[in-house]
Amino acid sequence: MALTVTLRPLRPGDEEAAVRWAADPEFCRAAGWTPGLAPRLVRAHWRPIVAGLEPDFLRLGVEAGGRLVGYVDLAELTPTSGQFGIGIGERALWGRGVGRAAGEQMLALAFGPLGLATVTAQVYAPNLRSHALMRRLGLRETGRGEPEAYRGELVEVVRYALTRGEWTVTPGRLEGKGSSPFG
Ligand SMILES: CC(C)(COP(=O)(O)OP(=O)(O)OC[C@H]1O[C@@H](n2cnc3c(N)ncnc32)[C@H](O)[C@@H]1OP(=O)(O)O)[C@@H](O)C(=O)NCCC(=O)NCCS
Repeated sequence: MALTVTLRPLRPGDEEAAVRWAADPEFCRAAGWTPGLAPRLVRAHWRPIVAGLEPDFLRLGVEAGGRLVGYVDLAELTPTSGQFGIGIGERALWGRGVGRAAGEQMLALAFGPLGLATVTAQVYAPNLRSHALMRRLGLRETGRGEPEAYRGELVEVVRYALTRGEWTVTPGRLEGKGSSPFG
């Protein structure tokens, strides 16, 4: 059955979901989080994000079936651009279209209400699910960055981008799915 996926602003208490996700070593490895982090360190990392204290960073919660199951980000935000990131912390849900639905809604927010001209993303070369997701969302590969540590080895970082013009013509883009987290 298809899950209803929505984005919403984070709120105090959401750190506890992050603590749960941080306890899953496979999610941590896939997402590039440090496995085995103490809950107090996870909370300390998430609290300023939940409070929205970082002006050039927007993180929203991803709800599926009414539960907080992950997050989407726009980092390095400027009036014209942002870097998309995503994590579906509830690993049992992977492969059910939650990432795609959340990503589509984040792009609709970025190119709609936020008025961005370009959304970029960076994906570790071995992260096949994430590459599939970026392509599904219409992002195109724009180049390779310096190697970074991922899953215990140095790997290439693949850069992606999508402009508002390209997004507008992406075939199969779902319009009006979910509600805007900004009303
Ligand atoms: C990447 C991630 C967000 C995808 O979320 P998801 O809910 O599983 O995504 P979807 O179900 O929408 O699937 C996305 C694509 O991955 C593909 N996919 C699923 N399993 C796959 C696998 N084992 N290998 C390769 N691609 C796979 C799906 O088929 C789909 O592509 P398609 O639409 O062309 O068929 C999720 O796996 C995750 O949180 N990973 C850890 C964090 C992370 O890597 N974030 C990205 C950092 S850039």
